Amino acid sequence: GEANTATTGGPRRRRVLVFPIPYQGHINPMFQLAGLLHERGFAITVFHTHFNAPDPSRHPTYDFVPVPDGLPAGSPGTVAATVEHIFAINSSCEAPFRERLAALLEAPGGRDEVACLVADAHLLTLMDVARQRGVPALALRTGSAACFRNFMATPMLCDKGYLPASAESQLDAPVRELPPYRVRDLMAVTGSRHEHDLVCKLLARAVEAVRTSAGFILNTFDALEAADLAATRRDLAGVPVFDVGPLHKLSPASSSSLLQQDRSCLDWLDAQAPASVLYISFGSLASMSGEDLAEAAWGVANSGQPFLWALRPGLARGAALPDGFAAATEGRGLVVGWAPQEEVLAHAGVGGFWTHGGWNSALEGACGGVPMLCRPCFGDQMGNARYVEHVWRAGIALDCGGVLERGAVEAAVRRLMRSEEGDEMRGRAQELRSRAAEAIAEGGSSRHSVDKLVNHIMSLWK
Ligand code: UDX
Repeated sequence: GEANTATTGGPRRRRVLVFPIPYQGHINPMFQLAGLLHERGFAITVFHTHFNAPDPSRHPTYDFVPVPDGLPAGSPGTVAATVEHIFAINSSCEAPFRERLAALLEAPGGRDEVACLVADAHLLTLMDVARQRGVPALALRTGSAACFRNFMATPMLCDKGYLPASAESQLDAPVRELPPYRVRDLMAVTGSRHEHDLVCKLLARAVEAVRTSAGFILNTFDALEAADLAATRRDLAGVPVFDVGPLHKLSPASSSSLLQQDRSCLDWLDAQAPASVLYISFGSLASMSGEDLAEAAWGVANSGQPFLWALRPGLARGAALPDGFAAATEGRGLVVGWAPQEEVLAHAGVGGFWTHGGWNSALEGACGGVPMLCRPCFGDQMGNARYVEHVWRAGIALDCGGVLERGAVEAAVRRLMRSEEGDEMRGRAQELRSRAAEAIAEGGSSRHSVDKLVNHIMSLWK
């Protein structure tokens, strides 16, 4: 790396510390942000858990500091377990992070070098540790601005009786305070009382992390969420908000994928007709039952549509694609374990995206100009699906209740891929792709926010 010239009177190097929460959908945007800051001249130190540890050899110019987390290997399987996992990361990393941060600050030149910490908004405890040591802490939220408004509104929505939803009949009621959400699109809407309480606590901690932060970074862009960004800025008076998305387009290419990406599928896509392929992926955490997997598979098979399916090992808890599926789709389908998704969605051969609606996926789909079929599972995915269908009008939400049914899947795939309505959705998705390209171009809103963020970090650095 570059020499620290602090003691020789030259310009001092500034260092940004980052601490992602160790899930794929959170690691990717944090590394993309780090790449962007590194390009602007900052040195980067990545603090990380042993759980889902990043591969330092992929980022040879960064420093890596492992923080023991004492957590068992293996991803949590339920919403409640995931929330508990996040709390456990906060508490078990607190003391070791304090020690490692102190060591870094006390090393020669260390205190002079460190500009700030950027932590995932779910790491409130670790942001507190940094502040106690005089290190300003910024929060990165990897979901949408609309989703963060949902976080902030949750106590009010509980007070007003929207949450927790006690009856099926309540789910379609519009949330007047937070259009265009319906009750079914909200965070913390279903599940047990225990789960509801856990999720509310998680959201409240994230809101506190953002409100007490020295800056709030969102992976979104103004043309995509202008109203929600404006409302977020109004509600967070005093905390500067930086809309620096889509990060995967703005950041220099580097992969932070935890799983090996099968790149051969890009060659396969090269041989397909333009906009003919349905790309299917349900992200890194969502799981589905064997029955759902079979219904999904037969719906896709019966649609006759070419497809590329990123079928993550473990998605269906060990269940495999049904017998006869491979034969039925011979010559027009490819199944891989994990795909280079950003590149797949930007490929001209892809004409539709069946997604669980994670925010990274929704953003990557929009930036690829690809209409989406959303089948949300949990968390922010219902709200994202609502935006895709109702606000962006660039896709279809498949009912999240109940099990999948092959006839409904087949009809939805046909509607997305081979109907006038689908073509209109594709047109609007391509419009979003253009807006994203403008946001990251010279003079664009996200470029401008990155400049502001860099200046802001420099102003924090004493
Ligand atoms: C989770 C939650 O599901 C999501 O709602 C929240 O916003 C972030 O955390 P995840 O399930 O991982 O995210 O989904 P998503 O946000 O879509 O992120 C998945 C990432 O994995 C994307 O960046 C995508 O490009 C990548 N991916 C996915 C691959 O690289 N290959 C694949 O085959 C599938």
